Amino acid sequence: MTVKNGILLALESSCDETSAAIVADGRNVLSNIISSQVPIHQKYKGVVPEIASRCHTQCIAAVTEEAVRGAGLEYGDIGAVAVTSGPGLVGGLLVGVSFAKGLAYSLGVPVIGVHHIEGHISANYITNKQLEPPFLALVVSGGHSHIVLCRDYCSYELIGRTRDDAAGEAFDKVARVLGLPYPGGIHIDRLAKEGNPEAFHFHSVLARQDNFDFSFSGIKTGIINLVHKLEQNGEPVPVADIAASFQQFVCGVLCEKTVKAARLYGMKSVVLAGGVAANSQLRSMLAEQCRVNGMSFFCPEPVLCTDNAAMIGCAGYYRLQKGFVSDLALNADAAMSLF
Ligand code: KG4
Ligand code: ZN
Repeated sequence: MTVKNGILLALESSCDETSAAIVADGRNVLSNIISSQVPIHQKYKGVVPEIASRCHTQCIAAVTEEAVRGAGLEYGDIGAVAVTSGPGLVGGLLVGVSFAKGLAYSLGVPVIGVHHIEGHISANYITNKQLEPPFLALVVSGGHSHIVLCRDYCSYELIGRTRDDAAGEAFDKVARVLGLPYPGGIHIDRLAKEGNPEAFHFHSVLARQDNFDFSFSGIKTGIINLVHKLEQNGEPVPVADIAASFQQFVCGVLCEKTVKAARLYGMKSVVLAGGVAANSQLRSMLAEQCRVNGMSFFCPEPVLCTDNAAMIGCAGYYRLQKGFVSDLALNADAAMSLF
């Protein structure tokens, strides 16, 4: 399906960011407004779903208005509306889906529901204009750790996944134990630069197994026990060393399994996606391992790694190109499946 003017308005509200973007021809971002609720949830040390839904309701219209005006457009220029319809927090998803359907109906344009993970993967098309499928994707966010085979646009095969905590979840939980603010990934990233990554050694049974699954709850528990033991003994907690050792271990496991999967499936390109893709060590480690193995490496610019609507607009554009379209029966699906 061709989109009028090639212009999509996209909305993302699956967690704690309300975002609206205007994307032209799939990869050209004309505006990408992100209203973060992080300061609101920080005092609870995590996202409170009911508060998140209310915040989305309060600001989605203003964020959308800013995206349209910021792109120098009028509502009449919009050719289609893309929206994250799952997975995520159902209250937030409902705000986005309802708003998107209302807007699409009033403008007389199609609405397309987008899977959040497909959005994260598609962020790579925006930063890397030359990227085309097939490729292997490592998707690491607050809710997912997936190795995904992308043979074509809108075609995904799950190769490996976490058996327990997602990578971002592990970063956030370890950060909390170390007394760092929510969300902790970025704070661990910064602190790790000052620490010794060889100070502590962790191991995981799954890391050594010949499959593409991950497990991060063991290392999280190991660090909780380590910190408690040091505190009970009245010893100082070497926060930077723990952050550096934890990050090195997690990045090592993620990179090793991703490159192994790319080799097995004959993929020449590897892409990184999701909030944890903003991690500086993960980006440089995976880039280096791809280089050594003769593979091309791609990742989105940091602002497109964490939740944003531009990535949803890009994914929505390619879905429409492939002939997928939703209708006004589109609903929020908190546990939506991509595979
Ligand atoms: O994709 P995202 O914005 O939301 C979900 O879909 O879950 O990912 C958020 C996750 C959080 O767990 C956050 O701590 C993590 O991404 N994150 C990072 C970094 N920046 C964000 N983790 C490690 N290093 C970072 N620099
Ligand atoms: Zn996300």
